[in-house]
Amino acid sequence: MVANLNDNPESPIRYEVDADGIAVITLDMPGRSQNVLNETLTEPFQAVVEQAYGDDTVKGLVITSGKRDFLAGADIDGLYQMTDPAEVVAMSDGFKALLRQLETGGKPVVCALNGSALGGGLEMALACHHRIALNNPKAKFGLVEVKLGLLPGGGGTQRLPRLIGIQTALPLLMEGKELRVDAAKAQGLIDEVADTPDDLITKAKAWAKVNPKAAQPWDEKKFKYPGGDAKHPAVAQMLAIAPSMLRAKTHGNFPATLHIMASVVEGSLVDFENALKIESRYFAACVVSPEAKNMITTLWYQLNHINKGGSRPDGYDRARFSKVGILGAGMMGSAIAFVSAKAGFDVVLKDVSQDGADKGKAYSESLVKKAVSKGRMSKEDGATLLDKILPTGDVQDLTGCDLIVEAVFEDRGLKAKVTQETEAVMDASGVFASNTSTLPITGLAEPSARPDQFVGLHFFSPADKMPLVEIIKGEQTSPETLARAFDYVQQIKKTPIVVNDSRGFYTSRVFSTYIMEGIALLTDGQHPRRIEVAGLKSGMPVGPLALHDEVSLSLSLHIMDQTRKDLEAAGKPVPEQPGYALIRKMVSELDRPGKKAGRGFYDYPDGGKKQLWSGLAEHWPVAAEQIPESEIIERMLLTQANETVRCLEEGVLESVWDANIGAIFGWGFAPFQGGPLQYLNAYGLDKAVVRLREFAERYGERFTPAERLVAMADAGQSFERVPG
Ligand code: NAI
Repeated sequence: MVANLNDNPESPIRYEVDADGIAVITLDMPGRSQNVLNETLTEPFQAVVEQAYGDDTVKGLVITSGKRDFLAGADIDGLYQMTDPAEVVAMSDGFKALLRQLETGGKPVVCALNGSALGGGLEMALACHHRIALNNPKAKFGLVEVKLGLLPGGGGTQRLPRLIGIQTALPLLMEGKELRVDAAKAQGLIDEVADTPDDLITKAKAWAKVNPKAAQPWDEKKFKYPGGDAKHPAVAQMLAIAPSMLRAKTHGNFPATLHIMASVVEGSLVDFENALKIESRYFAACVVSPEAKNMITTLWYQLNHINKGGSRPDGYDRARFSKVGILGAGMMGSAIAFVSAKAGFDVVLKDVSQDGADKGKAYSESLVKKAVSKGRMSKEDGATLLDKILPTGDVQDLTGCDLIVEAVFEDRGLKAKVTQETEAVMDASGVFASNTSTLPITGLAEPSARPDQFVGLHFFSPADKMPLVEIIKGEQTSPETLARAFDYVQQIKKTPIVVNDSRGFYTSRVFSTYIMEGIALLTDGQHPRRIEVAGLKSGMPVGPLALHDEVSLSLSLHIMDQTRKDLEAAGKPVPEQPGYALIRKMVSELDRPGKKAGRGFYDYPDGGKKQLWSGLAEHWPVAAEQIPESEIIERMLLTQANETVRCLEEGVLESVWDANIGAIFGWGFAPFQGGPLQYLNAYGLDKAVVRLREFAERYGERFTPAERLVAMADAGQSFERVPG
């Protein structure tokens, strides 16, 4: 039998019943690359489920997808717009009623997962009696809502713990983990794996046929949570400390994590229907929270915009490089070689000697070994990856490279030399990229014969882990070179932001305002422990003093001295540097240059935990009057936000999305604030101007609000989300 909806090209669903009475429901929304959960899908889905249940000849249901993936999650646009909790509860309850209908209708329902099922997609799968996944190495499964400040509002916080136990489910829910097929099967999210799409449907139908009385475990009379519910001693013991552990980790900045925990625990103490109601209420609390709005703005809209090439010049075909040369097999070059080989490029890793290059390749060898031992990479894939890296001390091996990433010492003269010798052998149409962290790109391009093909690719350390690459346009960098650099960054699975050439580019410049504010606070007599705690509470991953130790105070001093010299030579005024005297004293007088030396703001005892250096109070006495913690936090965040606006004003930054994503991915700026410009949006631009002026008067001119900020506040504007 073929229902009418199969003849309707607008229909998002196909419905076919085979000779054995198994109905296959295929989700396939027209005109979209993915199925998403919105009314366009759920309404006909409900109709088709009712049709199947109303038809006595139908003995079982198989749900699958006509797209590459099974079903993406909820419609984020819809959730983003919602501000009324009652409306959220009604919507969530409605979707859950549909899933309840599916799982309690008295016929077996099998989910045939041909690809990824994340968020709401997985929630639908969990409402089926059996889940079979295609052995698709690209497929991912997870309840990822927390990453946008949300929780699974389609029964996910109730079904998953009832299926795999509270202790196994909580980390998956609270971290939004995405599992590959094998891991999903091992953790119990998936029951079976099929090798081919045909096998998938055959297995699904077969299961439905032999399980006519299928029911969900939680609908069985004698249902018990695997591992026990929240009252079970082992679980109760864990739950007694879980909220404080969470608090210590998040400082209360991610309310969704607490709501998830509460929904799981409270839900386990009542019957399933009431548990679903509890979940809807916590879901509503998440959806209307400012944290979710901020995270959706940046980590959904703006990130998607970048991923779709929002900062890439139009009109150039997508580049695919064949041979990537890396100059310098030190800390950065070794890691860049690894990510390039992992993305499938042939890599030539060049250092001054064969020995040096071999040492660089050894870094990839150790990463591969670790990945293989942890089961994250097969032995064969590991061997293929390593085969792609040719370590060498001979410049001739770079012949024919169509992309060069230079990561030799931070020395202008040396960089000029390697640029010229490499250009002589590389592909004439290739791109030459420098990974400099401080030297302006326009200047580095001067010795180049092809400055239009010269660009900055600023990686972050460790480059195999950090998700961002800051692409720096020199004055002569051509749009085509930029487009090609953008493509490379995406091909190595990193996120590119595009900025213009300037001192510190964008990320280092704004990041440094955070660590320098830590020093300003110390000079003002604030207790160092309060400064560090406030840094963490502001949402930064590490306190400013500890971070400064990591970066090294001697490097800071070197950069500050260089900046002064350069500005003086150019006849420009040297801006206020409130931490300068302190850093100079720490490095030159007190011999405390940072973590590497084992001495900085902290002591680093061998094998022990770092401790704030007790001598700090002697040199920078703690003032009797301590400013409120909330003000310390505001100082730390407003100084970064104000500097970001200056970068926009000066044209260092060209877009709001690059600013916000660059901050979160580059130096870990408080993600729940959605990046520095979204922080200002949520703060209110007019209020931020008032506060900055107060701070400028009290703490110094660095807080003088950027002109652009004042103008936008006066005009009642805010920073745009994405174009259009
Ligand atoms: P490193 O000191 O670990 O490595 C530099 C390597 O370049 C050494 O192995 C050296 O032997 C090699 N080298 C020197 N002359 C060479 C030549 N003529 N041909 C080929 N190789 C040569 O330095 P690191 O930390 O890897 O930094 C490299 C570049 O990356 C610098 O420009 C640095 O500013 C930049 N950078 C560093 C970051 C960091 O966190 N370390 C972050 C972002 C950028």
